[in-house]
Amino acid sequence: MKTAELRQKFLKFFESKGHQIVPSSSLVPHDDPTLLFTNAGMNQFKDVFLGFDKRAYSRATTAQKCVRAGGKHNDLENVGYTARHHTFFEMMGNFSFGDYFKKDAIHFAWEFLTSPEWLNLPKEKLLATVYADDDEAYNIWLNEIGMPSEKIIRIGDNKGERYASDNFWQMGDTGPCGPCSEIFYDHGDHIWGGPPGSAEEDGDRFIEIWNCVFMQFNRDESGTMNPLPKPSVDTGMGLERMAAVMQHVHANYEIDLFQNLLKAAARETGVEFSMEIPSLKVIADHIRACSFLIADGVLPSNEGRGYVLRRIIRRAVRHGYKLGQKQAFFYKLVKDLVAEMGAAYPELQEKQSQIAEALKNEETRFAQTLETGMALLEEALQGGVQKLDGVVIFKLYDTYGFPYDLTADICRERNIDMDEAGFEREMEAQRTRARAAQSFKANAQLTYEGCDTEFKGYSERQTEATIVALYKDGEPVNTLEEGDSGAVVIDFTPFYAESGGQVGDVGYIFSGDKRFEVRDTQKIKAAVTGQFGILVSGRLNVGDAVTAKIDNDVRNANMRNHSATHLMHRALRDVLGTHVEQKGSLVTAELTRFDISHPQAVTAEEIAEVERRVNAAILANVAVDAAVMSMEDAQKAGAMMLFGEKYGDEVRVLKMGDFSTELCGGTHVARTGDIGLFKIISEGGIAAGIRRLEAITGLNALQWAQNQERLVRDIIGEVKAQTEKDVLAKIQANAAQTKALEKALSQAKSELAVYAAAKLLDNAQDLAGASLVVAQIDAEAGALRDIVTDLTGKSDQAVVLLAAVNTGKVSLCAGVSKPLTAKVKAGDLVKFVAEQIGGKGGGRPDLAQAGGTDADKLPQALASVNDWVNGKLA
Ligand code: ALA
Repeated sequence: MKTAELRQKFLKFFESKGHQIVPSSSLVPHDDPTLLFTNAGMNQFKDVFLGFDKRAYSRATTAQKCVRAGGKHNDLENVGYTARHHTFFEMMGNFSFGDYFKKDAIHFAWEFLTSPEWLNLPKEKLLATVYADDDEAYNIWLNEIGMPSEKIIRIGDNKGERYASDNFWQMGDTGPCGPCSEIFYDHGDHIWGGPPGSAEEDGDRFIEIWNCVFMQFNRDESGTMNPLPKPSVDTGMGLERMAAVMQHVHANYEIDLFQNLLKAAARETGVEFSMEIPSLKVIADHIRACSFLIADGVLPSNEGRGYVLRRIIRRAVRHGYKLGQKQAFFYKLVKDLVAEMGAAYPELQEKQSQIAEALKNEETRFAQTLETGMALLEEALQGGVQKLDGVVIFKLYDTYGFPYDLTADICRERNIDMDEAGFEREMEAQRTRARAAQSFKANAQLTYEGCDTEFKGYSERQTEATIVALYKDGEPVNTLEEGDSGAVVIDFTPFYAESGGQVGDVGYIFSGDKRFEVRDTQKIKAAVTGQFGILVSGRLNVGDAVTAKIDNDVRNANMRNHSATHLMHRALRDVLGTHVEQKGSLVTAELTRFDISHPQAVTAEEIAEVERRVNAAILANVAVDAAVMSMEDAQKAGAMMLFGEKYGDEVRVLKMGDFSTELCGGTHVARTGDIGLFKIISEGGIAAGIRRLEAITGLNALQWAQNQERLVRDIIGEVKAQTEKDVLAKIQANAAQTKALEKALSQAKSELAVYAAAKLLDNAQDLAGASLVVAQIDAEAGALRDIVTDLTGKSDQAVVLLAAVNTGKVSLCAGVSKPLTAKVKAGDLVKFVAEQIGGKGGGRPDLAQAGGTDADKLPQALASVNDWVNGKLA
């Protein structure tokens, strides 16, 4: 049976048992900060189990995408080396939300697994475990299923503390949890291993294929187990393991789905296919996790989910390298994955090219340092080293982008220990350095006596040049060594040094195997440019002939944003008035940030008009010309210049048709049409009379529009609207409905409380000449008064003291029927009780209210009322 068929069969079986088929949720948990990635089928139903959310169905079944890498359930380091660990896997599940419980959950599992109509597994191959004191589950297996007692194994708290057990499942440190019963499959005595609970249980013979969790508790942050509103069921069946059973193979990698991915991995790494190569398994596993994560919106980065993704990609690329593949290859497996899984998960198909693109970018980025990093590592490991130095681990991490666990992976293959403490020391030292020097820019104060730099970057993206000075730690040096951070000065440069708001260029300075990565460009003197960055390979000397090449994509994005800034400046003056002056600007590849003088917020209509004018100027596609001229000529040409700014005698005037003429030294597009779409994305005040606008252009603007569209689509789906047009009406209707429901609920609550209170009067205690009602009731603080008034109005000899506890606070209300107030005063009564629970209060003789904080003392305080009232009546 193919994996795809098994997935379908499972869903169909549970559908035939009244379960709703629900699509897999995203790998990025929605609104759940306790979870890094979706790690089980039940995640999307967490709130339903907790009773916070209700669904139209009480039985559900899913095929859920899961990632277990990072967080509570982390399998990353085992992947590729064991038969069954994966970063990504599919969990089939059936769920009951307060519907059926242990009995049906076990019967369903058994029927699906053993009935000839469904999987038809031989019963004698199956075993079950139950939580040690779960007699109910034990007896179902024994008496109803008919499993022999020696095959039902009780597992207690075998992980060191109460509820820490293989048979007690919890989603994370907090959340829904409960005892579970697992089903194991015996792969036969030709494989080593023992049944669960035995000393040999870690072997591969007995494999867990099914887990029925009987959800009963919500574990809170203090570790307390609070009972769930309704006992429920959460089950999980690992699809890949089950496919292995059905296909009569032992390891998950032998199933149909993985065989094709393994062959693709062999094809793309250029090795002959074999099941004996762990690296192929690593790659086949990782392409699934990485593709599905990217499809769900995660991108490689240096923190959080993005860093886990980066680690997985780099681990795959390193394994490809180990097999001899030094070119980008990993992204080429995306199409094979789509062929295997695209039908079940359409998002893979839809985002195929985005996924491949993101993987390719990350591979290319890493490939630049992987080889040099590996050479450094090999050198450090020479001569029978037993433990890898923490300084080397750190250098690999910091300079060559080797995540810690990637280096650990390599060491593990060679049986070498890691100096973890040394690595941590280096990390801490780096954090200290980073705090000291926030960025490379801090180093811009360099002493330099040589010739000026000639800036070629208006017309050239790449120049041949000679190194005229080098700096390390702010001091001039003759040589930079591999791994050094520093600055390079060359005689001719295409790198634009930060000025006029436009950030410095990035790129490379290289020659042969020498490669200096430029991460920022700053002026170190009026006419001298410093390229700041890191030497990723080789050695650089003063006097070396090199090629200097800027990163074109970044520069193009900078230029689009800079040119758009000029058009926006002009449009703002036209729309808002000529009082608008530039007060600051920042142009990066991502956006343009522009501060202006303007006394109030720029309205949405004004923003729309500015956008319209700028985009019209872009569509006019006029040429952008720069000319150097005398200040006098520039003034005559009507060039906009900044008040208070110092300009030389010769100035550069940048002209965009009739739309804009400004003094500017920045780099710009050739024609306005190159800017692409222009969109303002934010407006706000930063100081009195100063507004800040942020705008984007080109592909950034497209992406922004796409994100907005996705958001609207998600909202439409969430509120179940038909079209974009009725979405607002739908939201308003929902809000109105919620309000009406809240009102009805609060009314119903008070009515219920009055009803309950009336009963109290029936059960009142007869004292000499009075009916005493003392009770704690379930009502909101505000409702107490009405209930008490109602009670004292119904009888002319009632003495009433009601209490309610809401969010830990006690509310008290006392009432006395008018004829009795001469003897018993409500104000005194409420005061007497309030004082016992850490509160104060008082009021009229017939009605008084009070509050207190010590809810624990309430029962005792209520018990004391009887004597107190008796005393007054006597
Ligand atoms: N949530 C349960 C598990 O992950 C079914 O094993």
